[in-house]
Amino acid sequence: MSASKTGISEFGVYVHWPICAAKCPYCDFNSHVRTDFNETRWSRGIARELEAIAAMQSERPEVASIFFGGGTPSLMSGRAVGTVLETIARLWPVSKNAEITLEANPNSAEQNRFRDYHAAGVNRISIGVQALDDASLKALGRLHGADEARVAIRMAQEIFGRVNFDLIYARPDQSLEAWQAELEEALQFGTEHLSLYQLTLEPGTSFATLARQGKLILPHEDKAAAFFEATQERCERAGLPAYEVSNHARAGAESRHNLTYWRYSDYAGVGPGAHGRLSIDGKRFATVAERLPERWLDAVDKNGSSLVLTEIPRDEGAREHLLMVLRLSEGLDLGEYKARWGQAPQESQIQGLWAHGLVMQNGTRLRVTPKGRLVLNAVIAELAA
Ligand SMILES: C[S@@+](CC[C@H](N)C(=O)[O-])C[C@H]1O[C@@H](n2cnc3c(N)ncnc32)[C@H](O)[C@@H]1O
Ligand code: SF4
Repeated sequence: MSASKTGISEFGVYVHWPICAAKCPYCDFNSHVRTDFNETRWSRGIARELEAIAAMQSERPEVASIFFGGGTPSLMSGRAVGTVLETIARLWPVSKNAEITLEANPNSAEQNRFRDYHAAGVNRISIGVQALDDASLKALGRLHGADEARVAIRMAQEIFGRVNFDLIYARPDQSLEAWQAELEEALQFGTEHLSLYQLTLEPGTSFATLARQGKLILPHEDKAAAFFEATQERCERAGLPAYEVSNHARAGAESRHNLTYWRYSDYAGVGPGAHGRLSIDGKRFATVAERLPERWLDAVDKNGSSLVLTEIPRDEGAREHLLMVLRLSEGLDLGEYKARWGQAPQESQIQGLWAHGLVMQNGTRLRVTPKGRLVLNAVIAELAA
């Protein structure tokens, strides 16, 4: 069984930095606005939680990817990022070509830190651009303008070999033509990776409240599907096909961090609210860190970690693996899956979905079709039933 196909041996580290300069009205990530935090105490907390994970493991897997996500990790100083990277290198062997990504907001203050991150060891940057026009950025509650974002992308391309940026489409009042023009501009930058998310209304966000009150109207389902299809078609033509529902890359430029968790491999997750998956002595565990920043800090200061460790029953693991891996265009190798879990989707389940054009099977490899992607959750629910 090849590691690249199953991903089982690729180990990643995820570091969550939960602070943001402002809360965006659409976002339900674990992000909090704080002005008076002590960065040194925070990075020490991250280091201690990493130590706690290493102490749980009976082996020291090689780290293939490190991801600073948020929140807004580009509010960290280069020094704090360096301290975390040094801690990881002290605890695990780190692959020579490890992918080290940091999520950045494109505000000018943060651009000034790009060189420091690179000097600290970051070799890939993922910029939250969201839109390439000022009115939309304002409506999305962003603190940066479109030109600022353009400068950030170009600067990132000069400094880091590998650059991704995020855009949100199917925004309120956005026409398909306007999105197509925006996507065209995005592709002109020539980055190796683009994350293109359809705007979703997350419960508890300001956007969800506005939508309930009829003050924010998203494109109708059929129109949203047209946005999605046009996006797939254009990116494919540009040589950036989707390797996951919302993630597009040139061949070989897929994010290893993303692949690690969609292939249901192991990753350590530290920092407020971070999730992790660890294999220890043949069993699989989920870890979750305390969500609230201050409570996380207290727990880490007192106990060295805020992590709660729960064993994942085999049936649950098999189901979770299916949920993750079918998001990937490469799909699932039924033979490998059966070897790992002792069970696999039944022929009758696959046939039913195939008859509706929702999945395709090539030898032992099962993939969700473009039509199936539009109803991915239902397809997965059927296969996992
Ligand atoms: C952790 S967030 C971003 C990192 C960074 N703080 C930023 O905003 O630039 C990851 C990405 O998720 C996307 N996102 C967040 N909420 C979303 C929503 N409700 N609908 C669609 N995409 C969303 C955005 O594109 C965002 O850049
Ligand atoms: S989208 Fe990014 S900047 Fe905005 S609240 Fe979420 S994590 Fe923070």
